[in-house]
Amino acid sequence: MSDQATQDFAKSKALMRRGAEFLGSKYAIMCGAMSWVSERNLVSAISNAGGFGIIACGAMTPDLLDREIAATRALTDKPFGVNLITMHPDLTDLIAVCAKHDVTHVVLAGGIPPKGSVEAIKAFGAKVIVFAPTLALAKKLLRSGGDALVIEGMEAGGHIGPVSTSVLAQEFLPEIGEDHLVFVAGGIGRGEAIAGYLEMGAVGVQLGTRFACATESIAHPDFKKAFFRANARDAVASVQVDARLPVIPVRALKNKGTEAFTGKQRDVAGVLDRKEIEMAEAQLQIEHYWAGALRRAVIDGDVENGSLMAGQSVGMVKAEEPVATIIADLMGQCEEALQRH
Ligand SMILES: Cc1cc2nc3c(=O)[nH]c(=O)nc-3n(C[C@H](O)[C@H](O)[C@H](O)COP(=O)(O)O)c2cc1C
Repeated sequence: MSDQATQDFAKSKALMRRGAEFLGSKYAIMCGAMSWVSERNLVSAISNAGGFGIIACGAMTPDLLDREIAATRALTDKPFGVNLITMHPDLTDLIAVCAKHDVTHVVLAGGIPPKGSVEAIKAFGAKVIVFAPTLALAKKLLRSGGDALVIEGMEAGGHIGPVSTSVLAQEFLPEIGEDHLVFVAGGIGRGEAIAGYLEMGAVGVQLGTRFACATESIAHPDFKKAFFRANARDAVASVQVDARLPVIPVRALKNKGTEAFTGKQRDVAGVLDRKEIEMAEAQLQIEHYWAGALRRAVIDGDVENGSLMAGQSVGMVKAEEPVATIIADLMGQCEEALQRH
């Protein structure tokens, strides 16, 4: 392999070929949608640097999404995607907004896509990217219109499942990696890990935590500082205290808010024991505890009480760097690893 081939990331690009062709990007590196973080600036920077940016619709109204897509398009002529949460009450209208803008890739996250949603997206010619926690569900979603799959391990930041990325990769890639487009996410902080998953049959990867504090990210300086200071062990999954009060697992940096959440669960369980509250109301109090908390951390910089969603790779995020530098580093490390093998 010549030096030129090393600089061109030749081996990496060969293994990423199917993924990059599908995305229409130079490299099959997606920046996973991060609510409040993945807006026009970060998304366009990722796509302009050869990766694939994805707008996080989160709880946006159709009107807000409309404006965000238009603003992103003004900043890049490269392809990017839109991530929609399947339980959003206005999902149908959000899909219509994507259709209006001829969005090329829609990611459906947060649960099984409701009936008709995949069809509605494909009707305007966009590709559908789905998540699946089990192999059986993955096969079903790919059979019923999903064009590509992301498998995401519990090392990831944000909402997580119970299984690690390394185990998911071993379960999914040998079985469906050849016939389908599978991207791996969760815990990836360096290119050597990307090389490993590509060699196992992934067509690309998705990273969130590594990009959250890029120069182009609008996250509050205090949010970024918290990331730079944190080690892998600080990014913990939320803990459920009482079997009656379900907690959706989320990985975030430990802070006052996560401690207070444990106290809150104990208090609500006590009130339940004393029969001073109905079960539904108790469960709602737990469910609503974190409402608005990610915005408080990302936008307002409330790092004490807000939700600092972060994956275990946060320990590898040490300073603010431009997206182009992060992508070049990842590709360089990936290429070196592949050349050594
Ligand atoms: C701050 C933050 C917010 C996130 N918000 C979302 C979201 O709104 N929708 C979604 O599908 N995934 C969300 N994720 C997950 C990312 O898209 C991505 O899959 C994940 O970060 C990959 O794992 P990593 O953090 O180990 O790189 C979020 C992750 C972080 C760190």
